[in-house]
Amino acid sequence: MNKEAIEKELKSDWAGRNLWYYDEIGSTNDRVLELGEEGAPHGTTVVADQQNGGKGRRGRTWLSPSGTNIYVSILLRPEFDVQKAPMLTLLMAYSVTEVLRETEGLDARIKWPNDIVLNKKKICGILTEMTMKESSIDYVVIGVGINVNNEEIPQELTQSATSLKLETGKVTDRSILLARILERFEKDYEAFVKAGDLSPFQNGYNRILVNKENQVRVLKPGNEYQAVAHGINHLGELMVEKEDGTRETVFAGEVSVRGIYGYV
Ligand code: BTN
Repeated sequence: MNKEAIEKELKSDWAGRNLWYYDEIGSTNDRVLELGEEGAPHGTTVVADQQNGGKGRRGRTWLSPSGTNIYVSILLRPEFDVQKAPMLTLLMAYSVTEVLRETEGLDARIKWPNDIVLNKKKICGILTEMTMKESSIDYVVIGVGINVNNEEIPQELTQSATSLKLETGKVTDRSILLARILERFEKDYEAFVKAGDLSPFQNGYNRILVNKENQVRVLKPGNEYQAVAHGINHLGELMVEKEDGTRETVFAGEVSVRGIYGYV
């Protein structure tokens, strides 16, 4: 993977068009945050072969060895309202999963809201960060880490994480996969902006939602309960049914869900 190989493949209008490629960097999200401050345009994309300070959600680190995986972050300058921003993470999860399904022929699925799993183990994580100006969005950074060709998952993660190579036995061309993801996200983003919410994706997302009609544990601060997940609504909230039959919608920003037997 290198800048030329990605650019040669890429057929997008704006996603990945201002492309920055690094053999090694702290975090692609941090680099895009810097570029955002400098006024870089919508669609600016940073890709790295290795990260020394890869960031995961909830302050965790994202292991980012060289030569094997995809670490990419894209800058967006949306004109919509700030409360719509969390939906972008679900949208990216949907775009990446659809590419893995359609072009790689894999049974990749989404664990709500935005982890991508293959055979019930995580292969991709997404971290969204946002900067505001007064009360509106200045820019949004969506970072995607995909375990592609690595074969060494740390011992403590082998129950919950895997890579495309470990699951399929095949080596995937990272530049081609990345180009397809950027193209797909561009198309999906435009449909999202036009609709104003996730309604064009609700059925598709629910079809590939690993939690659908499954028991989940809803981890709300101070209020944990077991429920059946019925899929997302047009805002990306998870619709759940509690054991007493009452229904609730849970918002990705405030809760997470866990399978009752483990990660999924
Ligand atoms: C998660 O915890 O599931 C989110 C992981 C996000 C990792 C990606 S790798 C590219 C981008 N740069 C980072 O520092 N993090 C994201």
